[in-house]
Amino acid sequence: MGNTTETILADADGIARAAEILRGGGLVAVPTETVYGLAARADSAEAVARIYAAKGRPDFNPLIVHVRDIEQAEGIAKFDTVDARLLADFGWPGPLTLVLPLQPDAQITAAVTAGLSTVALRVPKHPVMRQLLSLIDFPLAAPSANRSGFISPTHPGHVLESLAGRLDLILDGGTCARGVESTIVAVRPDRQWVELRPGPFDLQNQHDVWYDDTSKPRPIPYTGSTIEAPGQLESHYSPGKPVRLNARAPEFDEFMIGFAEIGGQYNLSEAADINLAAARIYEALHLAAQSDKPRIAVAPIPEKGIGRAINDRLKRAAA
Ligand code: TXA
Ligand code: MG
Repeated sequence: MGNTTETILADADGIARAAEILRGGGLVAVPTETVYGLAARADSAEAVARIYAAKGRPDFNPLIVHVRDIEQAEGIAKFDTVDARLLADFGWPGPLTLVLPLQPDAQITAAVTAGLSTVALRVPKHPVMRQLLSLIDFPLAAPSANRSGFISPTHPGHVLESLAGRLDLILDGGTCARGVESTIVAVRPDRQWVELRPGPFDLQNQHDVWYDDTSKPRPIPYTGSTIEAPGQLESHYSPGKPVRLNARAPEFDEFMIGFAEIGGQYNLSEAADINLAAARIYEALHLAAQSDKPRIAVAPIPEKGIGRAINDRLKRAAA
């Protein structure tokens, strides 16, 4: 490891080198369609311990396991509801994470699930991550590649800013297209869907497409007081400065993040494209964090589609 962290292009040679480092228990930042992940082999206690140490992440906060396909996922989790099947068939590969009962014989080290009886699984769509997963015969534990509690990375430069010297390699696959982390849904044994984190995959909409009657309860947001999804309960995505939401205009000492007709030093999308705003929100927060303004203001973002995920992250950034 050492103090310098190398960034290499995610071409065939680069991906092969990343696979070699991961086989040896190393840490590699890998692009996904949502954010960059800090990946290590999920079957190694030592490798996974290095993720927690590099991020400064509390060990009670479990990690998402990335697999290449449903078949590999079935060796790790139980897909014993029709809903788990439907969601996996429809949502994978893509920005959807399923929390399902852990298989008793899963080759996953206990630290990955923080001792829970469930596991979070995702089949990513990004071609670099897919190519990497096809070269290795173990799943990858990968949280977002940032120090715990801070802004998530959508670009190799963000990873370097946050974790330089704390990982072995950064695979440069450019900017992440979706820009916010995957939707996380727990599918309960009674088939209730519990939305643990809003994201690019629109659960409510998909539920309405599949169930046009009222016989099946709609997805509910997680409101429990126990720490089931710790990333959702603590202050997160912090730019290290006060953040004011729903701002119409900046104060003199604020870095303004605009949207649509409300301008600013950085506009998420003048054309009010909510998907573009999602792709750019973390870049905006990184720039705001680096600016010489001591405070940050953000224009209102519509609470629809992926806008729910943006507002969820902004609320935590402001907490
Ligand atoms: O898009 C993403 O999901 C990115 C990319 C890299 O795949 N990953 C990501 O990981 O956002 P992370 O560690 O930053 O967020 C994982 C979230 C945390 O809030 C964690 O508490 C929750 O998933 N989680 C993991 N396992 C869980 C489980 N068994 N039950 C409930 N929540 C779980
Ligand atoms: Mg994270």
